Amino acid sequence: MTKIVQIYEGKAKKVYTTENPELYIVDYKDDATAFNGEKKGTILGKGVINNRVTNHLMKLLEKNYIPTHFVEELSERETLVKKVTIIPIEVIVRNIAAGSLSKRLGIPEGTKLSKTILEYCYKDDALGDPIINNYHIDALGLATPEELAIIAKYSFEINELLQNYLKDLYIELIDFKLEFGKTTDGKVILADEISPDTCRFWDSTTGEKLDKDRFRRDLGGIEDAYKEILKRLLGE
Ligand code: TMP
Ligand code: ASP
Repeated sequence: MTKIVQIYEGKAKKVYTTENPELYIVDYKDDATAFNGEKKGTILGKGVINNRVTNHLMKLLEKNYIPTHFVEELSERETLVKKVTIIPIEVIVRNIAAGSLSKRLGIPEGTKLSKTILEYCYKDDALGDPIINNYHIDALGLATPEELAIIAKYSFEINELLQNYLKDLYIELIDFKLEFGKTTDGKVILADEISPDTCRFWDSTTGEKLDKDRFRRDLGGIEDAYKEILKRLLGE
């Protein structure tokens, strides 16, 4: 399968059409942004790590009956995926207070939440991805109530599966962001990525941050943190 036409370039990935109208190729970049693109930088080797980590986790989810867009890893940075129309909702799953939740509600970072919290953001860079609820989603027609119910169910299941898997690797899953897409035949499947760019991973013994917060907050040691995640998950 080869790349034919670039149809999309986001902050971290490019997407291309292929000979097969039902398949796309995703190409991961080293570019890093934060705060809706205000802060820009490069994390050397990030594209390779995010590609490999995402595919590893998508395979784990597929084995556990979560449908994903993953088809085949083509190279270090490229993956063949099913063509979907991205549903313009960012789903945030939170187990421990951090980031914007801590800021918004005044809950100190690291506080364990008594229940997992699901949040939705409207995927719109110009608006800064504002937080919305199920009524906004219904009224704006971003997804039907039935589709949103599937999205929420998959998101909680993904959280359980990832938390359990990462626990054995001494990684605590603080929170993460998911995106879903619709296939041509109307099925809702997991799309986008699951990586240190889109998750907060804390070392469960030291509490060390092993994710993009090192870039967002200028903590240094970014490349090493991403490499550590690759090593723990894929053993390399
Ligand atoms: P937040 O605390 O900044 O709202 O982030 C919650 C989670 O979502 C965190 O794991 C990082 C991830 N995230 C993204 O993947 N993309 C984004 O644009 C933002 C703001 C957060
Ligand atoms: N995706 C965000 C941005 O817009 C960055 C982040 O993950 O915080 O730059």
